[in-house]
Amino acid sequence: MAALRRQFPILEQCDLHYLDNGATTQVPRAVLDVIVAHETSHRANVHRGVHRLAEAATEAFEDARATMARFLGAADKGEIVFTGGTTGAINLVAHAFGNRLAPGDEVVVSLLEHHSNLVPWQMLRDRRGVVLRVLPITGEGRLDLDNLGRVVGARTRLIAVTHVSNVTGAVTDVARVVEAARAVDAAVLLDGAQAAAHGPWDIPALGVDFYALSCHKMFGPHGVGVLWARRERLAAMDPFMGGGEMIRTVTLERTTFADPPQRFEAGTPPIAQAVGMAAAARWIEALPREACHAHLARLTGRLIEGLAERARTRLIGPAGLQARMPVVAFATAGIHPHDVCQVLDSHGVALRGGHHCAQPLMDHFDVAGTTRASLAVYNDDGDVDAFLTGLDDALGRFR
Ligand code: ALA
Repeated sequence: MAALRRQFPILEQCDLHYLDNGATTQVPRAVLDVIVAHETSHRANVHRGVHRLAEAATEAFEDARATMARFLGAADKGEIVFTGGTTGAINLVAHAFGNRLAPGDEVVVSLLEHHSNLVPWQMLRDRRGVVLRVLPITGEGRLDLDNLGRVVGARTRLIAVTHVSNVTGAVTDVARVVEAARAVDAAVLLDGAQAAAHGPWDIPALGVDFYALSCHKMFGPHGVGVLWARRERLAAMDPFMGGGEMIRTVTLERTTFADPPQRFEAGTPPIAQAVGMAAAARWIEALPREACHAHLARLTGRLIEGLAERARTRLIGPAGLQARMPVVAFATAGIHPHDVCQVLDSHGVALRGGHHCAQPLMDHFDVAGTTRASLAVYNDDGDVDAFLTGLDDALGRFR
């Protein structure tokens, strides 16, 4: 893994133990090079010009779509909609799918959700009179799937839940969610933001209908993401945003719309970012997957053990390593997470502290916030050691 770490210029340049990968991962040289090459030799707008640069840019952009289709196991690239990120993708579904729902129809979310998979559904509720049902969670911060039958019913039209929690690291047992949805003919949306870096996943095989991800959490640029949706779902949805690119014909009186995916891509898309995202996906595909998972599980185990050995810390998430990603959040009795993060920063350790865009979850665990260490493949034992040393310092300073 040391060789992997050396591929990340920022980790070479900054003397930093970067453990905030749940917020944003770093970018390897190979991906940076692809972005620079695109911007220096193929930069133009796409799907518009007939000059050679525009054609090269369009080809690169559509190749990126094909790569993302392969990365997600999609049937074809027409199922890949480029968005600004996970939030953009979920908002797209909340409008384009959600606006077809009738008052009294139900959308199921969970207590585990990031605000980006909660607030758009609350807004839909307020717009359309849709009813929001909330799946509870277990004590260790997993979806309480034994209670699915209590929140999923004949009026359920969509179950929208996280694939991997950005706080507890729990991996959703998607098969059980899909089974419950199919029983009532509802669709399933997965928030894949925290899962994307640990792919590739065969998303259609999971049985879901919609999958949202952000590139900046998978070793690529900010400002771009993907909504994958089954072809028939996309075909049945009206546009979300209007503008250039998403039209077939426009008169002053009316507009007819392009087929998916262009129907959902109004305006100039994030072109170099999409090309960079494809490079990031290829970079992930080339990783030794089993070795990476074993490496991350071992480091996650060290973090969890380290917390268990220290008084005044409380893990918020599963203590075991099964169905769990390397996201380790914890509460510290008598110390605010921001103080913990500040002390750790003085040790060169980057963490996230606060509510992690999951305030209902913080309320549930009765904490103002937590401190979170989240790992990526380039992290190593030195990072964990620095974290534990810094944590001891924080615990010692605030008594
Ligand atoms: N969703 C990102 C996180 O959990 C920003 O940190």
